[in-house]
Amino acid sequence: MSVFHYQNNQLFAEQVAVSELAKQHQTPLFVYSRAEFENRWKAFDAAFGAQPHLVCYAVKTNSNVAILNVLAKLGSGFDIVSQGELERVLRAGGDPAKVVFSGVAKKHAEIARALEVGIRCFNIESHAELDRIQGVAESMNLIANISIRVNPDVDAKTHPYISTGLKDNKFGVDINTAPELYADAAACPNINIIGIDCHIGSQLTEVKPFVDALERVLKLKATLEDMGIDIHHLDLGGGLGIQYTQETPPKIADYIQALLTKLNDSSIEVIIEPGRAIAGNAGILVTEVEYLKPTEHKNFAIIDAAMNDLIRPALYQSVQDIIPVQPRTDGVAAAWDLVGPVCETGDFLGKNRAMNLLAGDLLAVMSSGAYGFSMSSNYNTRPRAAEVMVDGEQAYVIRPRETYEDLMGSEVCLPA
Ligand code: LLP
Repeated sequence: MSVFHYQNNQLFAEQVAVSELAKQHQTPLFVYSRAEFENRWKAFDAAFGAQPHLVCYAVKTNSNVAILNVLAKLGSGFDIVSQGELERVLRAGGDPAKVVFSGVAKKHAEIARALEVGIRCFNIESHAELDRIQGVAESMNLIANISIRVNPDVDAKTHPYISTGLKDNKFGVDINTAPELYADAAACPNINIIGIDCHIGSQLTEVKPFVDALERVLKLKATLEDMGIDIHHLDLGGGLGIQYTQETPPKIADYIQALLTKLNDSSIEVIIEPGRAIAGNAGILVTEVEYLKPTEHKNFAIIDAAMNDLIRPALYQSVQDIIPVQPRTDGVAAAWDLVGPVCETGDFLGKNRAMNLLAGDLLAVMSSGAYGFSMSSNYNTRPRAAEVMVDGEQAYVIRPRETYEDLMGSEVCLPA
């Protein structure tokens, strides 16, 4: 049984009725399942068997401290892209020695903080970044462990905005020129090369691009070893897709097995950075229908969640299931566009959905655990939604709804 399921015609999150949560905490409301986060993380971890490995949850996916804490308790590592994410991991009790630091624009202060707390590895994305990390490490009299993020130029066959392994992306360095950068890194006194890193994109629904990328990474590893550079780990990034509607992504175990088969080396450590495949189906966004506005051309159901709460439909034309929290047994279905209160034509969460609706109904936007709250904003001065984590029969507010004071409290007027 899925963690989000119907029981007596009521949507439940684990053993808690979603309508009760909405009554208590109002809408829009993110509801997460602790069990789903744990089960998905454990599925990655278990799939490696005896292979040395570290599952580094991609913090950007959903960075609430309670979620990071749940994963840290399982022994998770973390993939971060900013000092802010590092501070979250530390607050959540995460182990800095299990943190890898990705991202193209690491600032001096961010590098210094990461060195100070002793992260596992910097995933370097350019020569300029190598120089900067060498400089900061030297000034602190420390050694920085690094890998270089290479761009294997494989087509991840996903939405262009979330495809990152092609030559014309800003990420990583060309795999063909990577040996020169590795040679320069090897000559840096405060740099310790430990790995090779790559991440080719997100929401991949096939295994082949991952395996193709690994094949190229393995060739690079052989080249580096010929140069006398030892590689201790391969970081193969994140990217495994989930089922939003009709997609059929590989199972976690099959994806990892395909990597291990290609790798054929039981001694090297493998790091992966999954985000969506852990968080995506561990969360829903609950919203209330405010008004029905049928017109001659279209039926609009105006809901209280908007693109500022969940930007994926507006930004990537993504389609997520939207289901009633208490399905109506009377009336008939019609086709509705589910639109939010924000003043943008792009503000919709679903289009042309066959639903039987009345004002006041509660709806659940499924698969909203990944890149939902973490990409939310205050556009239109909308307080960000509350977040609740269900654990069996209990529900905990892990972030209260923002207040207007939260939004405006630090703003100041000119003296005159
Ligand atoms: N590692 C790196 C270096 C990344 O850039 C990302 C995601 C991940 C790991 C995690 O990827 P995942 O396992 O979640 O696919 N906002 C977009 C997705 C952007 C992904 C950015 N990088 C969306 O809502 O579809």
